[in-house]
Amino acid sequence: MLKNNHQDKSFSKEFSYTHDNPYHDRLNAFNNFVLRDSEPEVYRGKWNKDCFKRDAKLNVEVGTGYGHFMIEYSQDHPEENFIGIDYRFKRSFNLAKKLNNLQHKNFRYLRAKGERIEFLFEENEIDHFYYFFPDPWPKTRHHKKRLFQKKFIDSLGVIMKTDGVVYIKTDHEGYFESMLNLIKNEKHNFELVSFSTDLHNDESESLSILRKYITKFEKIFLKKNKNINAMVLRCK
Ligand SMILES: C[S@@+](CC[C@H](N)C(=O)[O-])C[C@H]1O[C@@H](n2cnc3c(N)ncnc32)[C@H](O)[C@@H]1O
Repeated sequence: MLKNNHQDKSFSKEFSYTHDNPYHDRLNAFNNFVLRDSEPEVYRGKWNKDCFKRDAKLNVEVGTGYGHFMIEYSQDHPEENFIGIDYRFKRSFNLAKKLNNLQHKNFRYLRAKGERIEFLFEENEIDHFYYFFPDPWPKTRHHKKRLFQKKFIDSLGVIMKTDGVVYIKTDHEGYFESMLNLIKNEKHNFELVSFSTDLHNDESESLSILRKYITKFEKIFLKKNKNINAMVLRCK
């Protein structure tokens, strides 16, 4: 199990974004809905009131990738607010181009790191949180780079509302097992509602939203006949 002293420095208060990527400036073309680096941190605790300017369910997805889930879910639920987060520049730019053409503008896109959730959101702010097909960092020496670790789940337990729900799915058995072990063995603020090691052959009602929306990476793994692991957590 990872201990706190192995954490990525982007979890810390002192962290600041440094990079030299041309897509950082190019993302400015979408500044009506894209926020970069620490820009979105000003909305901590005020996403609905000051950013979306309406009271609605707040959905957050970390690792939006090509945006399949963000696009389908936000457009299916125009009455809800949606924040997508990913740190890859070019992928963010390509997704921003697609988001720009959507009918319902009930979303914001953050070119930012998921490790920053504690600085992006305040206590009791999020209704639904999604973490789909995260980079698994399979080598043992890279496990410290996995986002889902004790520090992350502790922050998530604060920023989620009571009864807020976390949805996770991955093809990677090792990462899934480590997330499940963390949930089963460590102290945190979540109840394990359900989990499955074969999502698409599991009829549990609590997993239905995870079966309904298929992401880009999921399509690739399903084509290769890989089982999809899934988990649903409820915040206490
Ligand atoms: C394997 S892809 C999955 C994308 C999408 N969720 C899907 O299922 O198709 C993982 C995505 O997570 C993003 N990502 C990885 N670690 C991240 C982090 N710490 N913060 C924000 N995004 C991250 C990557 O840039 C990448 O786009």
